[in-house]
Amino acid sequence: MQKINFMKSKYIFSSKPIKRLHNVINKTELLKKLKLKIENVENCELKKNAKKIVFASGDSNSSLMLIGEGPGQSEDEMGIPFVGDAGKLLDKMLKAINIDRNKAYVTNVVNFRPPNNRKPNQSEINFYKPFLMEHISIINPKIIVLLGSCAMETFFGDKTKISNMRGHWKNIIINKRSYLVMATFHPAYLLRQADQKKNSWIDLKEIKKKINELK
Ligand code: URA
Repeated sequence: MQKINFMKSKYIFSSKPIKRLHNVINKTELLKKLKLKIENVENCELKKNAKKIVFASGDSNSSLMLIGEGPGQSEDEMGIPFVGDAGKLLDKMLKAINIDRNKAYVTNVVNFRPPNNRKPNQSEINFYKPFLMEHISIINPKIIVLLGSCAMETFFGDKTKISNMRGHWKNIIINKRSYLVMATFHPAYLLRQADQKKNSWIDLKEIKKKINELK
């Protein structure tokens, strides 16, 4: 049997990180920088009134990115998206299609809580949109799910209606990359309109089907 001399230079392993590891480190760094950039925004009323930045949660390498509207009271206190009642329902919705919430990546259109849980206004949406676009580019998911009308309007304009748009796959292009996107009802809306859960279930099954197709 041939003996391998590990001291010969051709058997010394390269100290260069493999590309995948390099990308993971890069992604973590880029996310840290983006979070810092948002934390340091100036002249933003949302930030002035909020307790904490709510940046994101979950697996930054996930193929599934979920985008909500903005933090509520519980999220503002904890600095984590979707931890209140709507978040609990979101967990159940994902579990129903066998997705562990921590295996998806979750963020919002705006990263600071709008006072009294009001919807972010158009200028606030416009202000945070470049950060959201950068966020998407860093995560580079295969599928984006827009939770509710605010997230949907951020990408498709305020002439669109969630009741018409939900459940349909669309393509959006950000920084020359194309992403598959679907809008569906926000869990907070489903808490008020339980009769819409049947439509939400149709969307969830379609999302699961697409994830399996793309595997
Ligand atoms: N609703 C949202 O849209 N996002 C959250 O993080 C919590 C509630």
